[in-house]
Amino acid sequence: MSSVVSLVGLPGGGKSTVGRQLARRLGARFLDSDTVLEERIGMPIRAYFEQHGEAAFRDLEEEVIRDLTTGHGGPLILATGGGAVLRPANRQRLHDSSTVIYLRSTPDELYRRLRHDTQRPLLQVADPLAKLRELHEQRHPLYEEVAHYRVDTGRPSVATLVNMIMMQLEVAGLVPGLQGSA
Ligand code: S3P
Repeated sequence: MSSVVSLVGLPGGGKSTVGRQLARRLGARFLDSDTVLEERIGMPIRAYFEQHGEAAFRDLEEEVIRDLTTGHGGPLILATGGGAVLRPANRQRLHDSSTVIYLRSTPDELYRRLRHDTQRPLLQVADPLAKLRELHEQRHPLYEEVAHYRVDTGRPSVATLVNMIMMQLEVAGLVPGLQGSA
């Protein structure tokens, strides 16, 4: 059985924050696919988008997802970029090679968190709330398709979200295999 848990969901839903805490609880390793990608390209994602465009970014993202879901050492919690589910190959790989948790958020909630963001290229537009609504409409079905479990991020604190995920993983009998020694 795979010892990777992947977190998917729209930008600002807390994938990295929740993932890091979850990894700490389990003693597992934590990686963020965006951070790994930025290390590979040696520049921020926003700059890469501006210079090379979204399609080139998605190619690299696919490579990173592939690498991180195969040949890893020990239990891993993986936060993915919000658009990782756009490619069918990524959806299949994530679903088949990891336990996927969808951090479900509403566009309004995300807008409250991200309205001052300057790093996410897709949100540098005149009406970021409209963009978040569009992304939600397009991607929500894809997150649902790829996910094994879901949690709503609206009200709970990060600690509560981590507890909710831990409970789901425990009920599924996955926790022993995810416990590392980190
Ligand atoms: C993107 C989300 C970002 C990052 C890139 C594209 C998207 O990740 O991968 O800016 O398409 O939604 P976060 O979800 O961590 O913000």
